[in-house]
Amino acid sequence: MSQQTRRIVLAARPSGAPKPTDFRLDIADLPALKDGEFMVEVIWLTLDPYMRGRMDDAKSYAQPVPIGGVMEGQGVGRVLASNTSKYNEGDYVLGGFGWQSHAVSDGTATRKLDPKDAPLSTAVGVMGMPGLTAFVGLNDHGRPQKGETLVVSAASGAVGSLVGQLGKIYGLRVVGVAGGAEKCRYVVDELGFDACIDHRAGDAKSLSAEIGQACPDGIDIYFENVGGKTLEAVIAHMNVASRIPVCGMIAWYSGAGEPEGAMVKKLWRTILVNRIAVRGFIIFDHYDRLPDFTKEVGGYLRDGKIKYRESIAQGLENAPDAFMKLLEGGNFGKQLVQIAPDPTRD
Ligand SMILES: NC(=O)c1ccc[n+]([C@@H]2O[C@H](COP(=O)([O-])OP(=O)(O)OC[C@H]3O[C@@H](n4cnc5c(N)ncnc54)[C@H](OP(=O)(O)O)[C@@H]3O)[C@@H](O)[C@H]2O)c1
Repeated sequence: MSQQTRRIVLAARPSGAPKPTDFRLDIADLPALKDGEFMVEVIWLTLDPYMRGRMDDAKSYAQPVPIGGVMEGQGVGRVLASNTSKYNEGDYVLGGFGWQSHAVSDGTATRKLDPKDAPLSTAVGVMGMPGLTAFVGLNDHGRPQKGETLVVSAASGAVGSLVGQLGKIYGLRVVGVAGGAEKCRYVVDELGFDACIDHRAGDAKSLSAEIGQACPDGIDIYFENVGGKTLEAVIAHMNVASRIPVCGMIAWYSGAGEPEGAMVKKLWRTILVNRIAVRGFIIFDHYDRLPDFTKEVGGYLRDGKIKYRESIAQGLENAPDAFMKLLEGGNFGKQLVQIAPDPTRD
């Protein structure tokens, strides 16, 4: 009998914020293994904001998920059967297995994991794509110099939390922007940022005033994760020759709050007058930096110099709800879905 997989497919393209009926849970037979293929049981599925873009049929840097297609995503799985010398039964593997319980892979873009190196779930978090994004965005596009001021939005999240901690290690003043008092407390007390401002507590004007107070020497690097009101509040404080690595704009992913003309004009003028280097980047272009990242950040992790936090939803059926919440700040740290037990974890 062939192996079945439980999977979440895209049922409809969302208009605005995704809703439960945009997803469907179904069961399908997996194909028989061909030469060079292997089959995994997925343990950890990562949910990432970019997945919202895959639900739209719009021109982007990647193809959309087709209607009826399995939602795209990376995961950590355990090999149950193998027709390739690359992996043995029982190996742990990172790959783009999608939102499903089991998957067949030909090994493209997969990597064997050793649970002795780091907890398996970190392969999709602090030691995976979000961690690499923080490392490349800050170092290569932010070009940090000791003593400078760094502001990072979505500061308690997967990317932002590492950006700020690296900033502190590199000797910067680091100010986070996060949603709510609890996240702000965590960012300062646990992660060691110098300050954190709650973007949900006021409007763009009061947010800007608070950012100004927290950054008395202006801002040299704004690590942009969100757009929206936070961007508007930050730009007034950018220094001459400052840098903005544009990593994400989650406030606008579901089409809400389109920027008004006045904001675009203010933004453009600030970039011109202050000669700001604004650099958009997509992490897929930067996997050549993986060895440097793994060496440096892996070392910090082992030495206890950086911390990370996970938000874990239990069960594949809860993935859509966790994803919808992620887009609105319902996560606190890296959002994961645990689909099967992790034998390497207590
Ligand atoms: N360029 C790339 O290759 C690349 C790679 C990975 C990630 N990214 C981007 O990096 C950003 C962070 O990703 P992540 O995986 O680390 O997610 P995350 O920060 O763990 O989670 C997303 C966070 O965004 C914040 N948020 C949601 N709506 C917001 C709004 N309207 N205004 C301000 N903040 C809002 C929420 O935090 P609060 O509760 O604190 O508001 C939420 O927890 C996203 O924009 C993502 O698309 C880009």
